Amino acid sequence: MATVLFHPFEKTIETEGAQTILQLAQRLGLPLESACGGRKVCGKCKVIVEQTAEPLPLPSERESKSLGRLLDRGYRLACETTLTADAVVRIPEESLSRRQVILTSGAGYRVPVRLRPGVHPHPVRVAEPVLHSIQGDRERLLLALRETYGLGELVFDPFVLRKIPDLLRSGGEVVTAFVRDGREVIDLRRDSDGGAFGIAFDIGTTTVVGYLMDLSTGRESSVRAALNPQTAFGADVVSRITICQEEPDGLERLRSGIVGCLNSLVAEACAEAGMEADRVLEATAVGNTVMNHLLMGLDPRYLAMAPYPPVLQAAQDVKARDLGLRIAPSGYLHLLPLKAGFVGSDTVACVLATGLRRSEIPTLLLDLGTNGEIVMGDRARLLCCSTAAGPAFEGGHLRFGMRAAPGAIERVKIDPATLEVSAQTIDHLPPVGICGSGIISAVAEMVRSGIVLKRGNFNEELRSPRLRRGDEGWEFVLAWASGTALRQDIVVTRKDVSELQLAKSAVHAGASLLQEMFGAPFRRVLLAGACGNYMDPRDALAIGLIPENPGARIIGVGNAAGHGSCLALLDTKKRKEAERIARSMEYQELAGLSRFSELFLSGMYFRSARDGRGDGDAFK
Ligand code: FES
Repeated sequence: MATVLFHPFEKTIETEGAQTILQLAQRLGLPLESACGGRKVCGKCKVIVEQTAEPLPLPSERESKSLGRLLDRGYRLACETTLTADAVVRIPEESLSRRQVILTSGAGYRVPVRLRPGVHPHPVRVAEPVLHSIQGDRERLLLALRETYGLGELVFDPFVLRKIPDLLRSGGEVVTAFVRDGREVIDLRRDSDGGAFGIAFDIGTTTVVGYLMDLSTGRESSVRAALNPQTAFGADVVSRITICQEEPDGLERLRSGIVGCLNSLVAEACAEAGMEADRVLEATAVGNTVMNHLLMGLDPRYLAMAPYPPVLQAAQDVKARDLGLRIAPSGYLHLLPLKAGFVGSDTVACVLATGLRRSEIPTLLLDLGTNGEIVMGDRARLLCCSTAAGPAFEGGHLRFGMRAAPGAIERVKIDPATLEVSAQTIDHLPPVGICGSGIISAVAEMVRSGIVLKRGNFNEELRSPRLRRGDEGWEFVLAWASGTALRQDIVVTRKDVSELQLAKSAVHAGASLLQEMFGAPFRRVLLAGACGNYMDPRDALAIGLIPENPGARIIGVGNAAGHGSCLALLDTKKRKEAERIARSMEYQELAGLSRFSELFLSGMYFRSARDGRGDGDAFK
């Protein structure tokens, strides 16, 4: 057994057999980046081993390549390095996973809410029991509900039955039965105990948002957001599926992680609103298909195998307690329907929230993340697909990529004459990396100023100290070391540009294909999700993310999936509409489609960029 001390947290841990530094950091709950979930791919888990009682194992070829000259300064990859003796390890600034800036609101492009919740309060006076005509407490309550509201056969959740005797004898004349869908009594309270609340969840691969809503007014009482704790096991859905395939308790760990996260959001939202969690009688949830499966404890492994079938597609109503969700013990969680293995209920919710199914004009809806979900259509027809965009839109797989957190470069301007850069960061802090909207902005500016050429190559003819050859080939300096929090230059490399080309080309090809199938050009583009919301539409066009249709308006719609979840919480008719959307959307599988491959290859170019020397290199 050995003891490992982690700086700057000053936390120690005893090793149990041979464990990697990443495993030890995870056991301590330290915020160490691990975008690939320890699969030795992302290179984000850099640590500095400051002291060891025994020499460390030599780095693998892959680790040496990833770290380069950093190895000489004591850097190692945490998921590659096993400790068997006492050690002191530092997690450097660039490897700290930071508080994510989470998009909870939108740009106002939303369908309005009509209040038709599933749970209604029914205050009633219940007759006292009398000696000559014995009637059970439940039966007298039923009679009162029938006589007052015409409610017929009602079932009672066992938790409610247990409350009846004391409640009917607690001194008040009136009790309030909360009835769901006119069929089931899911709570019983003294009238003075207040109304019903619900919580709508949007479960993203990276972030989770909970909207606490008053079901009697439709008002938002509180909004809480958190990083999805599953990110500790990898940034994308494929890494989560791999955990389920490779580790016997992988599914349970991921399931309990997300349930714990939802429970924390419930507790925090209720605390902020000054109420108890047992007043939350209903919940809704949307998410991509993998998130949906993990929450339900359903094995997602077949989602990674063609033809990628989900375990189920239909909407589900489950007792929240059966999933471990701590709202009212008899409350329900409604999960919106899925379309396909990689088009989840979050996409259905986006369509619901933007009113796309009723649109008079052909509209393209993009929800960008590690997968780009794309919907094209109008009131007559809806087509959808999912493209494996890769993690570039979330800052993944980039030399200095990071999530949208304080210090991330989110907007870039480059003077085309001098190539001088002004970079805007989140919270205006010294830069620590580049987030998704930042890399789109940076590359768009590099295209406009002639640094990046048509095929993505760097223009070697330009003369500027910012444009140079680095360890990974040509790179462009966005921020000099003296001005960054890392004390090293933050650069965009040729490889970063290639990552963005792959991502944007996948989206461009998917959108182009749907447009061809639809048979008419779209006249409006709706950008959902954080990356879409923060990116400048001109940058999206400059890099060729969206097919160019002159005159098409581009509109950021914010967290449309979250709004869709709220709509379903407040209006049960929207749940039905979500089911119709899921049924009517025509899903197009892109894998193996030759037309998609053609469009993908042609979409790799930066069409608005110049030709020039260095342009003959092959794509990387
Ligand atoms: Fe170590 Fe990705 S390379 S977590």
